[in-house]
Amino acid sequence: MKKVYIETLGCQMNKSDAERMYGMLECLNYTQTDNPKEADLLIINTCSIRQLSEDKAYSAIGVWGKWKKERKPDLKIVFAGCVAQQAGESVLRRAPYVDLVLGTQRLYELPELIKRIENGERLVSVDETPYEESDIKINRVKSVNAWVPIMEGCNNFCTYCIVPYTRGRERSRKYELIMNEIKKALSEGFKEITLLGQNVDSYQGEEEGQNLSWLLRQINALDGNFRVRFVTNYPTEITDELIDTVIELDKVCEYFHIPMQSGDDYVLKKMNRRYDYLTYKKICDKIRSKIPDVTITSDFIAGFPGETEEQFENTLKAMRELELDYSNTAAYSPRERTVAAKWTDLYIPEDVKTERLARLNECNRECCLKSNQKYLGREMEVLIENFEQDRGVITGRTRNNKIVHIPYDKDMTGEFATVKITRARTWYLNGELI
Ligand code: SAH
Ligand code: SF4
Ligand code: F3S
Repeated sequence: MKKVYIETLGCQMNKSDAERMYGMLECLNYTQTDNPKEADLLIINTCSIRQLSEDKAYSAIGVWGKWKKERKPDLKIVFAGCVAQQAGESVLRRAPYVDLVLGTQRLYELPELIKRIENGERLVSVDETPYEESDIKINRVKSVNAWVPIMEGCNNFCTYCIVPYTRGRERSRKYELIMNEIKKALSEGFKEITLLGQNVDSYQGEEEGQNLSWLLRQINALDGNFRVRFVTNYPTEITDELIDTVIELDKVCEYFHIPMQSGDDYVLKKMNRRYDYLTYKKICDKIRSKIPDVTITSDFIAGFPGETEEQFENTLKAMRELELDYSNTAAYSPRERTVAAKWTDLYIPEDVKTERLARLNECNRECCLKSNQKYLGREMEVLIENFEQDRGVITGRTRNNKIVHIPYDKDMTGEFATVKITRARTWYLNGELI
């Protein structure tokens, strides 16, 4: 048996792709290793959302190239993921020791291509036409949560974002493949299913009316004690039907991830987001009024080209006013091919971006702590995910995605526990089993 090591740099979708690669490669007699030094096949699964993530990809494989040259000439190196889809051929020039450049759209072609590089070919497969998916083996990371992509791609072309270029146009996965995958994960003991997509609201089954709410109903009807989540939602695509579905279905968790990006209407327009602050607020208010204890998380960008201090402050104001439970934050990073990257004269200086990001993070910390304090003294259902024997602590998540640490000396991973919240920290809660 040969050994394969995959280094994943991106989002949950990328991690999910890695689980699929491991599965496909096992069928070619490759076993998974956690030690890149002993691998016969090394795969870097790249992310290009920001320049930093792209740079990481190239610096990681530099070391691999050295190993190949100095002591392991038969080593095969694959450059996969979002940077690969975009950079294509040019990767081979930049990193001549790479054997295969595999774009996100060609994931399922991997087995065929591996056989060819084993025979000494050097290949690039980044065609934008997706390679048709089949019912493959998936080697999931051992956990209680299974990621299941339901759609991929994006048609929105926000002016800062590379994803429409790396993940292609929106398309839904076949209903049968999704359901088979979920049933299999549940039979393997997974207790939580997270449906993934760049815009999960765009899921569309084979027939009319088969939207995300419909899909959730089909999943909810499956036997067993498990939870269902979905990420990411586009603010204006969240329908009343979806909100009502979350209320109605017992297995679907009270959690929405709804990136706002900016709290300023002018900036939102420049970002090509299709809503203003008030519209976002109304959606948020509606969800909060209908679903008690719902968690709403978001994404924000600091220092978008042309963003004034006043416009940036509108973002801080929005975060506080909506009492967002948690936000991912980032400084704007220009991405090749995107519209905003061309507005070089409007770029915000690095030090200003860094300073704004720090304020955004501080505001986020305040919001998180405030959000967590709401749950002091409450009893909550926690799905245990982890056991740290030496510390005597089990860790899990509530339905609304709060992390809870509980003192306990036995492994309860995969079990549902009722927990009383005793202390609120910034990033997590402390609780006791009851
Ligand atoms: N589909 C989701 C987001 C996917 S990308 C949505 O509609 O929002 C994840 C996050 O990365 C984005 O929400 C955004 O906040 C951030 N991001 C994307 N491009 C970026 C860039 N060029 N610089 C900084 N952050 C960026
Ligand atoms: Fe990127 Fe916008 Fe698409 Fe989200 S909706 S993936 S931010 S282009
Ligand atoms: Fe990165 Fe691609 Fe995900 S760019 S964030 S790995 S979709």
